[in-house]
Amino acid sequence: MIEPFDKMIFVTRPVFPTIEEVTDKLRDIWAAKWITNNGPQHTMLEQELKTFLKVPYLSLFNNGTIALMVACQSLRLSGQVITTPFTFAATPHVLSWNNISPIFCDVDEETMNIDADKIESMITPKTTAILPVHVFGIPCNVEKIQEVADRYGLRVVYDAAHTFGVEIGGRGIGTFGDISMLSFHATKLYHTVEGGALVMHDEHTKQRIDLLKNFGIKNEEEVVMPGINGKLDDVRAAIGRIMLNYVEGERLKRKRLHEVYNEELAEVEGLKLMPTCAANVKLNYQYYVVRIEEEVFGRSRDYVYGAFKNFNVYTRKYFHPLCSEYTCYRQLSSASPANLPVANVITKQVLSLPMYGELTEDDVRKICAILKSFRS
Ligand SMILES: Cc1ncc(COP(=O)(O)O)c(C=O)c1O
Repeated sequence: MIEPFDKMIFVTRPVFPTIEEVTDKLRDIWAAKWITNNGPQHTMLEQELKTFLKVPYLSLFNNGTIALMVACQSLRLSGQVITTPFTFAATPHVLSWNNISPIFCDVDEETMNIDADKIESMITPKTTAILPVHVFGIPCNVEKIQEVADRYGLRVVYDAAHTFGVEIGGRGIGTFGDISMLSFHATKLYHTVEGGALVMHDEHTKQRIDLLKNFGIKNEEEVVMPGINGKLDDVRAAIGRIMLNYVEGERLKRKRLHEVYNEELAEVEGLKLMPTCAANVKLNYQYYVVRIEEEVFGRSRDYVYGAFKNFNVYTRKYFHPLCSEYTCYRQLSSASPANLPVANVITKQVLSLPMYGELTEDDVRKICAILKSFRS
């Protein structure tokens, strides 16, 4: 008989810096009397992140969604953009807000990312870009996606919201495709409370993106394009600078918890664990996700999700429902389940288990014991 946890175990918890570190930085901001609009903290964070993430150019934003909106604007995307239905709502919504029709492509059975081998069949004369998502921090098939994009003259914009610090062969994940978006939301491995960034390859694109996120204002006399307010303020930039000191420690704690989950769950029939990546991929271990194969496990994902609550464990059905099931998209022909057979199976199987550095190894072993006890 397993006792419930005496505290609530959430799927994640934000990393908090010490209050002293924050007040020290606030003092600097108060002394400089510069709190937003490209202040010193903002400038320093952009520099520090470029080095940390191994990327040539980066522009900070107030959140990842606005950043992705601006990425589409900056590349003048239009018509149709091919994306995945197995993602957070922001990904297709950003296309809609740019008057672009999302075209849903099925996902790969192993990685749960867009199936690069199926993208070509979704291209039409209206297609201008591909918007893949590195789901749960596992990189997409970046080579194949670029190869298809090059052959058809398409842009590639990555939703890299889950991928802070991920590298392939020592190369920052943000350098793949034309532009990558990062989210610095509090639920992410690295955060600025709310925030985000775009990564790009050249100075010209950076300048254009910096104008677009500041209403298109070039100087006191000229507004040169219809921009928006996408600026990150100096308070959150300062918190982001502090958080850079925490991110590797948090990553290593989560790496260890991943190992414990893998050890405990490897032999359980009916559970499919996270995909393994090539040895040259540096992962960030942000999430731990299992897939519950009901026919073998004997219980459905929805049963497990509900039963965990009796033990004070709050998991998440992430991503469920598919974006292609939303009322605003389900009328699209690419949204039909017949076009998305793999995604439609995975969305009924996935469950995000608790993952954050404050969890102990014993907590994770107990969560696994509870999960195993549900098997019938
Ligand atoms: C895959 C994905 N894309 C986009 C976003 C949106 O980022 P933000 O919350 O920073 O706007 C998120 C999550 O927050 C996400 O998980």
